[in-house]
Amino acid sequence: MNTNRRNFIRSTSLATASLGLAGPFSQSVFAGTPSDQLNVALIGVRNMGFGILERHLEKGNVNCVGLCDVDGNLLEKRASDVQKSFGQKPVLYKDFRKLLENKDIDAVIVGSPDHWHCLHTVYACQAGKDVYVEKPMANSIAECDVMVKAGLRYNRIIQVGQQQRSGKHWQDVNSMIRNGRIGKLRKVNIWGNFDYGVGQTKVPDQPVPDGVDFDMWLGPAPDRSFNPTRFHGSWRMFWDYGGGLITDWGVHLIDMAFWANEMKTPPKVTLATGGNLSFENNAHETYDTMSVIWQHDDFIVSWEHTAGTQGGPWDKNYGLAFVGDDATLVVNRQGYKIIPEWDDAKQVEKTSGLEVKMEGENHGDHVANFISSVKSRNTPACPPEIGRAVAVAAHAANIAVRTGENKLVWDEKSGAFSNSEKANNMIRPIYRSPWKLPEL
Ligand SMILES: NC(=O)c1ccc[n+]([C@@H]2O[C@H](COP(=O)([O-])OP(=O)(O)OC[C@H]3O[C@@H](n4cnc5c(N)ncnc54)[C@H](O)[C@@H]3O)[C@@H](O)[C@H]2O)c1
Repeated sequence: MNTNRRNFIRSTSLATASLGLAGPFSQSVFAGTPSDQLNVALIGVRNMGFGILERHLEKGNVNCVGLCDVDGNLLEKRASDVQKSFGQKPVLYKDFRKLLENKDIDAVIVGSPDHWHCLHTVYACQAGKDVYVEKPMANSIAECDVMVKAGLRYNRIIQVGQQQRSGKHWQDVNSMIRNGRIGKLRKVNIWGNFDYGVGQTKVPDQPVPDGVDFDMWLGPAPDRSFNPTRFHGSWRMFWDYGGGLITDWGVHLIDMAFWANEMKTPPKVTLATGGNLSFENNAHETYDTMSVIWQHDDFIVSWEHTAGTQGGPWDKNYGLAFVGDDATLVVNRQGYKIIPEWDDAKQVEKTSGLEVKMEGENHGDHVANFISSVKSRNTPACPPEIGRAVAVAAHAANIAVRTGENKLVWDEKSGAFSNSEKANNMIRPIYRSPWKLPEL
């Protein structure tokens, strides 16, 4: 840490103490400082969270000052990875509340499973840290609502990990559509067929692995014995921790459809069917098969998945087809293609065709956008309002199928469904004591 920064931290701590703000949580030292250093910490080190941390550390001027995980073996491994690749020695924590007491931390990356996103994010905001939280924003509608409020209440930058918003070819596609390149946009068809959506082969419950604090892994989720098929990585196929393919891969793609239509709130009408129609020997609760339609005033968005199949429309296992009056634009992370409509009267194509190939992910761009927002205090590429709108759409689809209602009408004013009490009962998760859904 440079001397200026250390002096600033000391004077900020004194200032907040004299204002009576000190205590378990005090304000971030980064916002508004001339320091060009950013101190980050990671909660949930196994997979994506660590990737996001690496993208931060590659930027330079970013220091990893803390790592937290409930799996002690992973924690040691990741500490050694950070040391080897970046020559840095973060403090290690098994309890995120201890990490958040560290006043040297400016920003926290939340890479935990979805059922933890809300608590990790809200507590971090309360502690004065900015937050990069992975998608989907949370595992329930009420948690998303609280997270939006936390960002506003504590004046924190929150970037939701829907990184395609920071990707050049996604931005190009978005502005082409908004500028009328494919004519009036009427419909967006989205699909995502992935093998992992069918879960793993069932195995009996087992003792908790050495070094794992399983009670802290479960956190607000219901108590239960340990089973590896519902643990690292595969938790996303169980309702207590995740929402299956539609909240996992789905939110990335649904986000692009909503973005093209400048939607910042959840869709009004959700029509959904789905079920577990195959792979009955696999461990999963979330649906292996789903068809969803979100009806808007003047356009329609649809989502389809058949987990365990690897094909799909336009010969792609995942993607979006933006259907306009003049052309269809098909896009995924590998690039995009514009397929023009034919004008019978004029005997010409209604617009020109185009094909652009792409490779690579956009995590680094999204992290760069986060760092720049933390410095400037400007709204990041994917603020909580957007993370919420997309997550609520995906959760509404799951709730429509789980309740058997199939059609749900969302009332944004009351923050509830206007046509189903059964569905409203699923908006708010029941937290296991002593965890409480924060009230803001
Ligand atoms: N943006 C993307 O492209 C992308 C890709 C993959 C995953 N994700 C998201 O990243 C998040 C993590 O997914 P993953 O695949 O890395 O999961 P994972 O299971 O591989 O890793 C989660 C980590 O969190 C740890 N953890 C659990 N509870 C904790 C707690 N209370 N405190 C500290 N650590 C805790 C686990 O031990 C594990 O190390 C999910 O929300 C997922 O949807 C995003």
